[in-house]
Parts: sequence; structure tokens; C-alpha cells
Amino acid sequence: MTDQSIGPAAAAQRALPARYYADDDVLTRERAMLMDHWQLVGHRKQLAERGAFLTVTLNDQDFFLIRGQDDVVRGFANVCPHRGHRLVEGQGVKARITCPYHAWTFTHTGALMGMQRTRTTEAPNRAEIGLTEVNVDTLGGFLFINPNCNAPALDDYAPGLAAQLEQHCPDLPQYAIEDGPALGHSYTCDANWKVLIDNYLECHHCGVAHDTFNDMMDIAASSFELFDTYTFQTAPTAGRADNRAFPLDLDHDVTVGHFWFLFPNTVFGQFPGAQGFYASRFDAVSPHRTERRTFSLIADPPTDPGMAERNRLRGIWSSEVVSQEDRRLCENVQRGMRQHAFTQGWYVTDPDAHGISEHAMRHFHQMYLEALEST
Ligand code: FES
Ligand SMILES: [Fe+2]
Repeated sequence: MTDQSIGPAAAAQRALPARYYADDDVLTRERAMLMDHWQLVGHRKQLAERGAFLTVTLNDQDFFLIRGQDDVVRGFANVCPHRGHRLVEGQGVKARITCPYHAWTFTHTGALMGMQRTRTTEAPNRAEIGLTEVNVDTLGGFLFINPNCNAPALDDYAPGLAAQLEQHCPDLPQYAIEDGPALGHSYTCDANWKVLIDNYLECHHCGVAHDTFNDMMDIAASSFELFDTYTFQTAPTAGRADNRAFPLDLDHDVTVGHFWFLFPNTVFGQFPGAQGFYASRFDAVSPHRTERRTFSLIADPPTDPGMAERNRLRGIWSSEVVSQEDRRLCENVQRGMRQHAFTQGWYVTDPDAHGISEHAMRHFHQMYLEALEST
């Protein structure tokens, strides 16, 4: 299905039609599209030792990643080829993978190394059976999987992105995983996943809806760069230590935010404040519900004795103020997507006012329609 209303001629103004945000059939097609693209699943430092594994569920499909004896991190479908039981749960370390149902046992490379036999049963040929492998790649230390065996490597999918990360966040390799849930922080919102990404990709709303964020930032000075499969936003603060969001230490903290969106459902960047980095994946739970899973890193050792406290205050502000403001906006918009009187919105774009223009969001919609069409 090609939507002419957002084709090149009309692209300047009319937004993605509302039905894309509220339709079960669209979500079915989106799930296939999402599983054809790189999905963020964690960070290499979570798999520091041989045999360390972590699990992830994407669009109701279970996977796990495990570091082998050869230090290669591999990804597999988390399902036993015998009768379909899940092989591993959560996160941990295993010398081998033994299915809890009938104890078929697999190596870190997915080969079947042992099975129970009975005297009366002819067992299948071990060499013919193994785990289903999926592609694994990394970007900035973060782990991604792609169930599509023909997918291009991340470097080919998003050329130049790794170099931008290195340029703008040179200390990223030294950061440590921040304390918190082993498989990342989860945030749910009763809105379509694209409503959340739309909201992430424009700061047209910041001056109106984020009073304290707006006090900290200099949104008028921010800008977006658009690339084929990603966007890059530079967002300077106003350089005030005593802004109304959280205290900034102008000598030690990040004072210019750098944020990326990698199509279709990953964002990452370096937020102003204590030196650290975050990466999030947006999962479509239903057309009307999204789970955002975030992995956070923090400078280690701390940049200064006050860093931990500033980081704590930023965390409280983030979860109790700005995230709640965005949640209310997104949930309200989701209701709008179901209103008969609303079928399609408008883009407000202004090349001279990058910071508040909605062109990065429009770019997302153009990538989205193209990908949906070609899945
Ligand atoms: S289902 Fe895994 S060993 Fe039977
Ligand atoms: Fe916002």
C-alpha cells in the first residue's frame, strides 16, 4: 500500500494518516518490517565473560545472545528444536545450554551436543539439528540482532553513524553500565510506538509543554541532520548551572546534547548533565501501547565527587517530570488518532528554525512508508 497523500508532491505538509497509528492490520505488517531491521537488545558489557547470556523478546519472538569460548557473541532463537520449550530465561552464565524439558544440550555455537535416548526410540541424527542463529552486530558497544539473514551489517545500513558516535561521544567506550534492572529500564505508554518516536523527533512542543527542559536548553540553537536511515540532533543547553530542570556542573557535565534516531525503532544519545549515554528500543505491544526499554551507561570513574548526586537528580527529573509530560502528550494524541474528525495531521517545517521544525519526524515517516511497502 503506497500512500499518495505523503508522496513527494505533498510531502511538505500532510502528516502520516491517523489509521497508521491505530490499526491492527498495520501493526501486523509493521511487526514483519521491524523484524527485518536491526533491533537493539543490550550492551556488550552485559556479556563480559564467556558463557554470559541475555534474553530478549521482540514482537512475541524469543531470542538469546551468548558469548562463546571464542569470545564471539552469537544470537539464537530461544526455542528448543526438540519440542519447542524455551531454552534460557533472563540473564546469566552457562557453560552449555540445556533445555529444561528433556535436557537436549547445546554448545555456545548452537550445535546439539547431547540428548537423552531411550532404548526403544530411534533418536534423530544430532548433526542435523542445531539452534536457529540470527545476525548480531554492535554499534558504540550496544548489541543489535537482526533475524533477517540477508540484512546488511550496521555499518552498511547506517554509514557514518559509528564515526559520529566516536566524534561526539569519545568517552563512550569507557562508560559502565548503570545500576538498575539487568535487562534495562522499561517505560510503558498507552500510545502507538510511532507517536512516541514522532514526539522524540520534534521539539516543536518543547517550549509549550516542557517548561523545565526548556529552561535548561537553548532549543532555538539546536539542529537536525537527516541521513538515509538515521537522524542526528545537536541540542545545546543554555549553559546555566542553576536551571529549573536539574543542576548542571559546567566544568564536568555534558552541556551539548547529541541524540540519534536509527530507523525504525532505536534512539540513543548523550543527554545534558552527568556524563553518560542511553539507548532505547520502542516495542509495539499493540497499536495503542508501547514499551520503551532503555539501557543506560555512566562515566566510570565519576568525573568529580558531585557527579553521582547530579545524576540522581537528573534521574528523578527525567522519570517524574519530563517523561510524565511526554506520556500525557502521547496518550492524548493516541486518543486523537481514533477520533473520526481527525484523519491526517500537518507537518510544520522551517529550514531556518531547525530546532523546532518537524522535518526529522517527516523524514521518519518517509522511511517508514518506504520500509513498510518493501517488506
Ligand atoms: S523440548 Fe527441549 S529437550 Fe525437549
Ligand atoms: Fe517531549
